[in-house]
Amino acid sequence: MATDKREIILSGIRPTGRLHYGNYFGAIRAFLDLQEQGHRCYYFIADYHALTTITERMDLYRQTIDMLRTYVACGLDPAKSVIYRQSDLPCTAELTLLLGMITNIGHLERGTTYKDKMAKLTSESEGLEGNPLSYGLLGYPVLMAADILIVKADKVPVGDDQRQHVEMAIEMARKFNHRFGEVLKVPASVPRNALRLPGLDGSAKMGKSDNNTLDLLDDPKTVLAKIKGVQTTTDPLPLSSDSDDPDAIIPQMPPSLGALYRMLHLLAPEDVYQDFVGKYRRGEKFYGTLKTTLAEHVSKFNAPIIEGFNAPGNTEATVCEFLRANAEKVTETALDTVESCKAAMGLGRSLFRA
Ligand code: TYM
Repeated sequence: MATDKREIILSGIRPTGRLHYGNYFGAIRAFLDLQEQGHRCYYFIADYHALTTITERMDLYRQTIDMLRTYVACGLDPAKSVIYRQSDLPCTAELTLLLGMITNIGHLERGTTYKDKMAKLTSESEGLEGNPLSYGLLGYPVLMAADILIVKADKVPVGDDQRQHVEMAIEMARKFNHRFGEVLKVPASVPRNALRLPGLDGSAKMGKSDNNTLDLLDDPKTVLAKIKGVQTTTDPLPLSSDSDDPDAIIPQMPPSLGALYRMLHLLAPEDVYQDFVGKYRRGEKFYGTLKTTLAEHVSKFNAPIIEGFNAPGNTEATVCEFLRANAEKVTETALDTVESCKAAMGLGRSLFRA
């Protein structure tokens, strides 16, 4: 049989809530493009990773199923892409163990996600009581590296916030190969222009745990309420650049207004966006229409996704059916990687897998 020369794409999303616009424009949009370009795409739900925050069994199950239904509603197609659940591929945990042996703890402690979480917890009143800083949280990037390396990924489409984690995976693969021989495929870095969508509160990142998201399943009423609630009382700051480039203009705006412009640029036709840039430059009073226009575009974007999510063919039963079939498709490649690593390290073969 001829070998498959297509590029291998891998990415995942934690099932810690509904998919939001950061997830969509940072990741899902690229998932769809790559799927349609005919690459070998592996898209999974990172349910092991979600255990660093979710503690309720039924929450995790429900959110995993709903996230898979949202994947399908967005256009991810289990017949074209291998869509699976991370915990259906337990050999990922074995590769995590092996990679953990070559990973320096200091390196993990310097990870920005870990440091941010640590800073947040120590600044909260209860401090570190209850020890929410688990071994799993510190080792998060090792598990993520295992996800990537186990399928021999060439590319990892993610938003800018995951850049450092992908870099860590690259370093782990290089280190492993240097020590044990060329076993692991080294994936490409995240491109420089990867997106980081700001939150509706004007913070640098829209994120599920920050209560600042616009979600793909938000109905028109919710969309309007969320957008109307965005703080726009600050006076516009003059734009020093007369460039059309949103990356030059938007950072000069007050942050929450900038978040609205960023969304408008992603969703509305160029002339609508440019019209509002013109209004901004001329110092007109336009915040009300900016918000209603943006809300209309968001609701228009959400409508087919909400419809797809509720479609009769997109149920818990159909999702569970393709999960079973797709877990099998990814298992062969994954076991091949783990067995090659074990052999390279001088460990025994897993006889029960032979
Ligand atoms: P997660 O679940 O936080 O986010 C899923 C994807 O959405 C992107 N994203 C954003 N992009 C731009 N702007 C934002 N505001 C924004 N918020 C989220 C993320 O960059 C990501 O692409 N650790 C990962 C899940 C994971 C994974 C992996 C990803 C586990 N193993 C292996 C790739 C490869 C995470 O927590 O993503």
